[in-house]
Amino acid sequence: MSKLKLINSLENYQSAYQHSIKNPESFWDEIAQSFTWQKPYSQVLRWNFETPSIEWFYDGELNITENCLDRHLASKGDQIAFVFEPNDPKSEGKSYTYKALHQAVQNMAQVLLNQGVQKGDRVCIYMGMVPELAIALLACARIGAIHSVIFGGFSAQAISDRLIDASAEFIITQDGAFRGNKTIPLKPVIDEALLQCPFVKKVMVLGHANNPISMHKDRDAWLESELLAVGNAEVKPVSMQAEDPLFILYTSGSTGKPKGVVHTCGGYMVWAQYTFEQVFQYQDNELHFCTADIGWITGHSYIVYGPLLAGAKSLLFEGIPTYPEADRFWEIVDKHQVDILYTAPTAIRSLMGFGSEPFKHKSLKSLKKLGTVGEPINEEAWQWYKTQVGQNHCPIVDTWWQTETGGVLISNLAGITPERAAWATLPLPGIQPVLVNEQGQIQTEVNPETGYVHGNLCIQFPWPGMIRTTYGDHERCKNNYFATYPGLYFTGDGAYRDASGNYRITGRVDDVLNVSGHRIGTAEVENAINSHLGVVESAVVGYPHEIKGQGIYAFVICNDTLHSKVNIAQDINATITQAIGPIAKADKIQIVSGLPKTRSGKIMRRILRKIAEGELQNLGDTTTLLDPNVVDAILKDRL
Ligand code: WTA
Repeated sequence: MSKLKLINSLENYQSAYQHSIKNPESFWDEIAQSFTWQKPYSQVLRWNFETPSIEWFYDGELNITENCLDRHLASKGDQIAFVFEPNDPKSEGKSYTYKALHQAVQNMAQVLLNQGVQKGDRVCIYMGMVPELAIALLACARIGAIHSVIFGGFSAQAISDRLIDASAEFIITQDGAFRGNKTIPLKPVIDEALLQCPFVKKVMVLGHANNPISMHKDRDAWLESELLAVGNAEVKPVSMQAEDPLFILYTSGSTGKPKGVVHTCGGYMVWAQYTFEQVFQYQDNELHFCTADIGWITGHSYIVYGPLLAGAKSLLFEGIPTYPEADRFWEIVDKHQVDILYTAPTAIRSLMGFGSEPFKHKSLKSLKKLGTVGEPINEEAWQWYKTQVGQNHCPIVDTWWQTETGGVLISNLAGITPERAAWATLPLPGIQPVLVNEQGQIQTEVNPETGYVHGNLCIQFPWPGMIRTTYGDHERCKNNYFATYPGLYFTGDGAYRDASGNYRITGRVDDVLNVSGHRIGTAEVENAINSHLGVVESAVVGYPHEIKGQGIYAFVICNDTLHSKVNIAQDINATITQAIGPIAKADKIQIVSGLPKTRSGKIMRRILRKIAEGELQNLGDTTTLLDPNVVDAILKDRL
């Protein structure tokens, strides 16, 4: 039986939670038993957070696609797995039954094998939101290749950085992707990236947008002709160790280049299905619409793996919420009779701006549950979501988690545990959060005046879906997540907890920005800006932005070459776009003559952050600055 037992009351949650804390091994063993293992595991968990070394379901063997597809065939072969809604509402959509998806994945897996992909090889996937993207992930997993999806908005430079880091020799891409009224070139960007990556052996290209591209002899192949050639392939799911890597996903940290977060086959599988079913309280036949892009972890876990493991129906949408009109999401909900909508606060806030007009002639009656993810949701947006979209009858789950956590860690369970605007509420079974102060002391006392305790959010016990390493650099994983507070996994987020154990996430406490739900490291943006010949130095901070949550504010010192240019900001943003992609463009660029630095030469970001946030009353202690006058000069020209 592939369906897990759903928690069905607050009391039931509490007892499950207690069981998971007191006896984690028996708790997870019971859940893991419902999956198909090619060889049973001999131990549920071995771990330490010092090295760190985390092993779940030790020496068990499995294939996640067997659990996503094969095991459903007998009972759900003819049920829909994916519903595809194309960018252009007038184009014909597509849907895949479990049987059809099973075949499509085998065909794609056969193509990969024919192209020379072997178990353990890294395959980079750079595509738009089309069904073949999900099929590509599953095809890799079927043959034991490690997929690394790169979001379709990243630049050639960002792609080559990732290809080099993962030493990926195979690429699956498409000619171009449709997004609103634009066609985004993808293959041409890959061609540019590959100028720096001569080690790439094969590029498989899906024809989709009909935009002009060039094909390199010997290296590039059209997927369609390859797929046709394999016919109805039969590719058995290869046996993977529970701790073999399933995928790498690059994400930004507070220092250096993005790091490749590694998730493994067994633990991620169990976590993806468990969290999907429990958080959304998924019932048979419900249609789940997660609006994220598969280029991010949310799409991996809650468009592809979680729903398929649960034998659910998942909707894959190619376009954007405002094309052709701002009612597109509501149009889709009615057209496909969506039961569960899972989106980001930034989308909610931007749709709020269109008022009630887009809801005219829409029913939305099919909706049963709503979810949000990616950034703190402000109370106003939560209320609007609740009343306008959910028409007051849908519970909202506020799901807090990260690329590194594989799936949701803190959230209410839809309709089962209490919801509360702007609060992620309770940890899922298995999750043991703690709040620590700067010194790493665990904070337990609730302040009697506020009713809360505040601190940096850490987790003190492993869960199946957690990060195992950062690809090719285990030290980096240790330093980033396990060294700040020894013995704890540090999330990088700050949070409040009330006396009943509910959490409210306040956002990042490190140098990571969250712009429209996208994680961007300030160091990455600074490096990009500094690569401009006309720039001497820069400092990047975030500031509150009505729609995006956070905006990017860059303070830049230029040399004469740039000073003479008319449109400095545009020029700098072009450089960012080239180095990272348009998602990292600065909203405000202030040219300054100096940056506030300590005598030891460290930039005092705290002061810049306050200036960017407009908190000018109390800039804090500026006496330790090398030159306090710098601050006055910056304030004078503040944007
Ligand atoms: C933020 C996305 C508040 C948080 C799944 C985290 C949230 C970062 C929430 C991870 C939420 C995510 N409430 N903040 N419900 N969900 N975040 O890796 O700062 O892209 O550390 O994973 O997003 O972003 P990532």
